[in-house]
Amino acid sequence: MLKGKHIVLGISGGIAAYKSAYLLRLLIKKGAEVQVVITPNGKEFITPATLAALSGKPVVSDFFTANTGEWHSHVDLGLWADLMVIAPATACTIGKMAHGIADNMLITTYLSAKEPVMIAPAMDLDMWKHPSTQDNITLLKRRGNIIIEPKSGELASGLVGKGRMEEPDKIVEAIESFFAKSQSLRDKKILITAGPTYENIDPVRFIGNYSSGKMGFAIAEECAVRGGQVTLITGPVALTTPQYENIKRIKVISAKEMHAACMENFTHNDIIILAAAVADYAPDYVAEKKIKREGVEDMVIHLVKNPDIAATLGSRKLSGQIMVGFALETDNELENALKKLNKKNLDWIVLNSLRDAEAGFMKDTNKITMISSHGQLIPFDLKSKRTVAKDIIDTILTQK
Ligand code: C5P
Repeated sequence: MLKGKHIVLGISGGIAAYKSAYLLRLLIKKGAEVQVVITPNGKEFITPATLAALSGKPVVSDFFTANTGEWHSHVDLGLWADLMVIAPATACTIGKMAHGIADNMLITTYLSAKEPVMIAPAMDLDMWKHPSTQDNITLLKRRGNIIIEPKSGELASGLVGKGRMEEPDKIVEAIESFFAKSQSLRDKKILITAGPTYENIDPVRFIGNYSSGKMGFAIAEECAVRGGQVTLITGPVALTTPQYENIKRIKVISAKEMHAACMENFTHNDIIILAAAVADYAPDYVAEKKIKREGVEDMVIHLVKNPDIAATLGSRKLSGQIMVGFALETDNELENALKKLNKKNLDWIVLNSLRDAEAGFMKDTNKITMISSHGQLIPFDLKSKRTVAKDIIDTILTQK
């Protein structure tokens, strides 16, 4: 499971740091490549020589190598890693992570991390209980960091209570389960909507929008790569269906047709991702013949509301189904996205703003923030839509 995985192991200065050597050994045995980053205090508890010998790589601790002036790039580490694990994470390191106090290599690496981050706290019971630590933990959780809860038991101080770092073998289990969950969609069925809808005015004219369908198609491809059975319901788009036998495409034109196709298919699905830009209104009357302009100076087209597919499916959501919507906003982004999340009874909403250059309609890149019904708010960098699709699936599979 961990063969070939790149893991950054961050070690901060607590007595539990001696257990990090065991953790490192277990990860290496499972086939992971591990780069250790240690804080100056961490080195007081365990020597870089031990960790370098176990990982087979020089340990990173300083911004520069003193005698050569070589700069250690925390940015490159962020690109290299599939996962960052900070074990032990002391109250101090947790506080610095929560507030961006980048005064050592571990925190700069954390702030540059593009990969998911797991944190195994270790501290005395009073420090763990303190509201300042608890608030920091809540903040880190909300941002999508995964906390490996400390255990109760005897602490280095001689006191007994919650604060012991989880045992290395259990941390390895958590890491394996993270990779297992984030990778596989085998045995899962996913319904995805993509593209615009066209609402006919007459046989040759319609009301539409600029959606290209690229985001939804990228998600369909990502789900197919992970072995999921994908039903891709698309409005009129110029894209060809990704070549996977586990993608079934249903082509529709209008919002009503998309609504009908979703209603017919949604109960069989475990995950529903609504990426289509559905027209909110449609002409109440579609002319049978092409409307002529002769003798007509101005024209009023009366529009009636289309069904809100996301809201309908949200109101009928089955237990265990995960429902994800999109919010493309031009203003009051967060507020609008939260409203939609609640109103449509979604589990996640993927927010992107038209104010972000290179994000949104027709672009190949996107910049998203994922917001969950549990209050998580996870921002991502500008990335290709294909990589954004991976982030979306990783996030909904690994976060609660
Ligand atoms: O309300 P708004 O259109 O901004 O909501 C966006 C989300 O709702 C998207 O996930 C979109 O696919 C979905 N939606 C829908 N049916 C509609 C309107 C929006 O499924 N009629």
